[in-house]
Amino acid sequence: QTIRRFQFNVEWKQVTRLCTTKQLLMVNGQYPGPTIAVHEGDNVEIKVKNRIAQNTTLHWHGVRQLRTGWADGPAYVTQCPIRGGQSYTYKFTVTGQRGTLLWHAHYAWQRASVYGAFIIYPRIPYPFSHQIQAEIPIIFGEWWNADPAEVENTMMLTGAGPDSSNAYTINGLPGPLYPCSNQDTFIQTVEYGKTYMLRIINAALADELFFAIAKHTLTVVEVDAVYTKPFATTSIMIAPGQTTTVLMTANQVPDFTGMFVMAARPYLTSVFPFNNSTTIGFLRYKNARTWKGKSPVDPSSLKLPNLPEMEDTAFATKFSDKIKSLASPQHPCNVPKTIDKRVITTISLNIQDCPENKTCLGYKGKSFFASMNNQSFVRPSISILESYYKNLTTSSFSSDFPEKPPNYFDYTGGDPLTQNMNTKFGTKLLVLPYGTNVEIVLQDTSFLNLENHPIHVHGHNFFIVGSGFGNFNKAKDPKRYNLVDPPERNTVAVPSGGWAAIRIKADNPGVWFVHCHLEQHTSWGLATGFIVQNGQGPSQSILPPPQDLPSC
Ligand code: C2O
Repeated sequence: QTIRRFQFNVEWKQVTRLCTTKQLLMVNGQYPGPTIAVHEGDNVEIKVKNRIAQNTTLHWHGVRQLRTGWADGPAYVTQCPIRGGQSYTYKFTVTGQRGTLLWHAHYAWQRASVYGAFIIYPRIPYPFSHQIQAEIPIIFGEWWNADPAEVENTMMLTGAGPDSSNAYTINGLPGPLYPCSNQDTFIQTVEYGKTYMLRIINAALADELFFAIAKHTLTVVEVDAVYTKPFATTSIMIAPGQTTTVLMTANQVPDFTGMFVMAARPYLTSVFPFNNSTTIGFLRYKNARTWKGKSPVDPSSLKLPNLPEMEDTAFATKFSDKIKSLASPQHPCNVPKTIDKRVITTISLNIQDCPENKTCLGYKGKSFFASMNNQSFVRPSISILESYYKNLTTSSFSSDFPEKPPNYFDYTGGDPLTQNMNTKFGTKLLVLPYGTNVEIVLQDTSFLNLENHPIHVHGHNFFIVGSGFGNFNKAKDPKRYNLVDPPERNTVAVPSGGWAAIRIKADNPGVWFVHCHLEQHTSWGLATGFIVQNGQGPSQSILPPPQDLPSC
């Protein structure tokens, strides 16, 4: 078995974007960070050196971490943070997965700039026959002129929503529609007639995005490192934490610029003031007659691709519905056909009366929080996995996450102000015996339905067996579930004003974080976690913690 070793230094480095020069947190001086590329079955060892005067952790988003929760990364859930000057080596094996994932910091809002691609090459050939000329990571992010840590602090102090970023980016570059950014533009050279694999990653903090390339068809073949039935589309919708691999053939004849525009902009958002802007980059056809102007291309001459409108929920829904597992003999879809337990949880934004020490600038002079079943998740100050594993009695959590909503959450009516009050704060987890087939119905509530919530589950993939608008109907909706080829993912965009039902086989012993991948919602408590107990024998038990595991 191969061991792939990486060294990641977390450090500050000066960067300029949008005419603003600042210190940016990054790995090995790179923004976005280095790509991790490994093969299915590899042992991976990533030595992380914290060279900053604050805590950090890194997370390998979507990597299943079978029995190695110690390497998962969310601060205070599976580990204490790596303190300034210290190191920690994340060790895990990549099994049973292949495709595109991402890695990112999992401490406060550090993932604003600390992220990169995590690519797993398959052991057997791709299930499609195209000759691939090159594989290209396309990573969306956001750029803040301010310090994201301060944006979070201000938000928590005022109870208001966060300031939005100043630009969306493609591979760290905003592109020429933003001020001072002509040189900071992503350009990918392609050859006529060749097919490319685009490994598209949404690492943005706060927004689901539409993406398209002018005149070019994108064929979706994989999401969240699981193959899908291929389908062609002109645009994709991608939520933070999701990855989408597409094939694209360079089969168009370019105009005098030699270029085609690729563009991404948000689908729905609750970030105010909203940054209603578009990041663009270019496909440059090799050997085409090229633009001879001063800047790489005159932005005014560009034809943007046809992206869906910002509120085009119809497109987003249709797109999500087209994603189906490949479900072939070589790549079967192992959706649990029956369940041992159904948990229904609301996912909501809440408003609370203003605590005395705050000036609350949230809705109607109150303070925002967020919750699942009206439980607003509080991160403890020691690691949950460690206290669980060592059976510490001074427990950092309790095992009583409510399995039903505490009160009325009717999407179609009711008073949002009373429905969304009385949030309780705490660290409540769900406990599942090894091997439990659990269904979790994620129900968006009626207050402030402005966007989909991308709910991410650590340590497990899940199957999206159903989704819809309005309230989940226990009697009717399960009858229409897809138990044949539902999409298998690690992050589901729960429709705004609707619900999604996911099924998980809880076969990875450990403590696993579940949260909204819109970063401000996690800060407000839209999170929970579940414990999968050990099964029988060592192969179904959590491995012992590594020697160098940080302590709190
Ligand atoms: Cu990509 Cu818990 O996160």
